[in-house]
Amino acid sequence: MTDHQDVALDWMNGDGEARPPADLRPEVPHPARMYDYYLGGKDNFPADRAAAEQVLALGPLVRISALANRAFLQRAVRHLAEQGIRQFLDIGTGIPSAGNTHETAQRVAPSARVAYLDNDPIVLVHGRALLAGAARGSVSVLQADLREPKAILADPGVRELLDLDQPVALLLFAVLHFVDEADDPYAIVRTLVDALPSGSYLAISHATGDFSTPEEAGRGPAIYKNATAQLTMRSREQVLRFFDGLELQEPGLVTAPQWRPDQPEQPTDSQVAIWAGVARKP
Ligand SMILES: C[S@@+](CC[C@H](N)C(=O)[O-])C[C@H]1O[C@@H](n2cnc3c(N)ncnc32)[C@H](O)[C@@H]1O
Repeated sequence: MTDHQDVALDWMNGDGEARPPADLRPEVPHPARMYDYYLGGKDNFPADRAAAEQVLALGPLVRISALANRAFLQRAVRHLAEQGIRQFLDIGTGIPSAGNTHETAQRVAPSARVAYLDNDPIVLVHGRALLAGAARGSVSVLQADLREPKAILADPGVRELLDLDQPVALLLFAVLHFVDEADDPYAIVRTLVDALPSGSYLAISHATGDFSTPEEAGRGPAIYKNATAQLTMRSREQVLRFFDGLELQEPGLVTAPQWRPDQPEQPTDSQVAIWAGVARKP
């Protein structure tokens, strides 16, 4: 993507119907597009790349952490599908990348359904491409804000695709660190989990400064200050609190590469700055 117009044109869908232009704000760094850049994607603007380059300059662990997070997402989703989960509520979806949730889940269970929610219009722009390759009725891409959990639970798009009386996997991958304390992320997670039946799961990955000096850990959030969402890193103890009342699955809350690694060559670096865990609602 090179300029604003490319994206606006993308809203012309195949049947020639014009969709409303999204407020893409190309001049402001967006976490979704910065993350796309870390993963080697092309769906980003110069302002995103400039901010992302500043973050990448902090050290090699940034890109390693982004890739490790993505690999955790795939292992966690596959595990959940293998546990019999057929419904996924994926909030903070991001721009489609390799091994998206529905592709991973449907490889195990073709009937798996995924509601993707993100508050960044860029994700909706790319949602069309995501939907094109998915089985009809198995995926929806919706604009929603994690900070409004009641609206998410009432969203007709979510209700149409998912039966909230049956177990659901609530996926909060690399998104809670964009919710600051003032918005009470713990109450948000509780509201969502409370609405799901027993046998549902919560999967979280979350950036942490636990392996850095306070000075180093402050640099990432400082760069995100000018982005559309600010970065709040949390300690292992703080991330653990999101799982209160739930049964953490083996191996517990660990760094992303340590969560059920599936390949001998998988990095098992205990210093990757992402906590990762999956828990079951009793
Ligand atoms: C780092 S990306 C993670 C993408 C994907 N979940 C993954 O782990 O690969 C974070 C995503 O969260 C989204 N996001 C940030 N704050 C949000 C909010 N309040 N509500 C919904 N989505 C949000 C961003 O737009 C971005 O797409």
